[in-house]
Amino acid sequence: MSSINKNNVGIDVIAFSTSDYFLSLKTLAEHRDVDYRKYYEGIGQERMSIFPPNEDIVTIAIDAAQKVLSKIDNKNDIDLLIFATESSFDLSKSAGIYVHHFLGLKPSCRVFDMKQACYSATAALQMAKSFVESNSASKALVIGSDIVKYSPNTSGEPTQGGAAVAMLVSENPRLAYIEPFSGIYTTDIADFWRPAAATEAMFDGRLSAHNYLRSLGCALDNYLEQSSLNFEDINYTCFHAPFNKMAIKAVRQFFPERDIKDALIYNALIGNSCSASLYISLISLIDNCKRNLAGKRIGMYSYGSGSVAEYYSLVISDRYKNTLFSDSNKENLANRIEISFDEYEKLSTTAEIFNYTSKEGGKRLYRNIGSVFLAEIKDGYRIYAEA
Ligand code: CAA
Repeated sequence: MSSINKNNVGIDVIAFSTSDYFLSLKTLAEHRDVDYRKYYEGIGQERMSIFPPNEDIVTIAIDAAQKVLSKIDNKNDIDLLIFATESSFDLSKSAGIYVHHFLGLKPSCRVFDMKQACYSATAALQMAKSFVESNSASKALVIGSDIVKYSPNTSGEPTQGGAAVAMLVSENPRLAYIEPFSGIYTTDIADFWRPAAATEAMFDGRLSAHNYLRSLGCALDNYLEQSSLNFEDINYTCFHAPFNKMAIKAVRQFFPERDIKDALIYNALIGNSCSASLYISLISLIDNCKRNLAGKRIGMYSYGSGSVAEYYSLVISDRYKNTLFSDSNKENLANRIEISFDEYEKLSTTAEIFNYTSKEGGKRLYRNIGSVFLAEIKDGYRIYAEA
């Protein structure tokens, strides 16, 4: 295997999956006695994906990855699978192994999970890029999958959500090249964390928002210095969007001339999806932008509380339109099922999810998003089945 040009590796195909169920933030506002415009305009969100007990970070990851595999000839070229998540349910076994199994990837494919809050999919992407650069016949599958849960009646509650993104990294990518420079900013801060036994995150919302912007400034400076580029060289911007207003504030502060609307359409309907969020924004931009993006540079801001920030850039390939799922992405988001507040409360109960053991119940009560669903949790071990 030979090493290859560092400007010639990137994302060949990208796809996402989220729950088939959502709660309207108008419904949440009504029950929390809040003016719904605070959610719609103040934080920039309209709906949040809510997950039934038959779906989790693995089932949506498999669904997203199966879409990616539908666009390639030979899955045996995949030598590396990295699963990035901060909502892992197992402190030992990698969630990626379940994905490897249901995708039917070869046994010699290396699999592991990565964690650094919402940042880890970007770390995984950069690692996969380096891997492909030194093994040019290889491809790597990067998955970012998270379900974001906050306690009821907290400021974070309207910013829940979840989704999985799968990206195939290869030489001569059909979608976008990853440029060889990036700006990093790491600092130790208590803005957001989840102790091992907890299912819901703990956070200091204001501090996290402050650090998101401060870290963007530092990572961006580092990026501009390393790349010798100027702000004008960046044509579009995508941001990690814990809630859309956060990204809108970032644009106003650092890129005042840029329009970010297309890059936030899907995020407003899904809610926060942590490691997947930045990449949902990228898909939203590509699916919804009416202009031709070929040759355009997209600035990408990744932020993971705790905290690591990275600013890097993609250059969209000439062939990008050949690999998209734009129509089905829009249809899937438009055809989801709206749940009532009572159902939201039931599905948000941790005990409800952990006591879930009924295979039949799972199939009967809730629609599966893809071909694999969570059938049972036995002795804490997750058992998946094909629908
Ligand atoms: N109509 C229109 N707008 C209204 C309104 C109304 N009736 N009422 C309030 N608003 C506006 C406010 O003016 C405010 O706007 P600005 O920010 O532009 O001033 C906005 O709505 C939000 O109001 P508050 O600041 O009072 O909201 P809050 O304190 O209830 O919640 C938050 C905000 C603290 C960020 C909360 O969303 C939160 O805690 N989120 C979880 C943490 C988070 O997402 N942090 C982001 C950075 S960390 C990260 O990125 C990692 C990650 O994914 C978690």
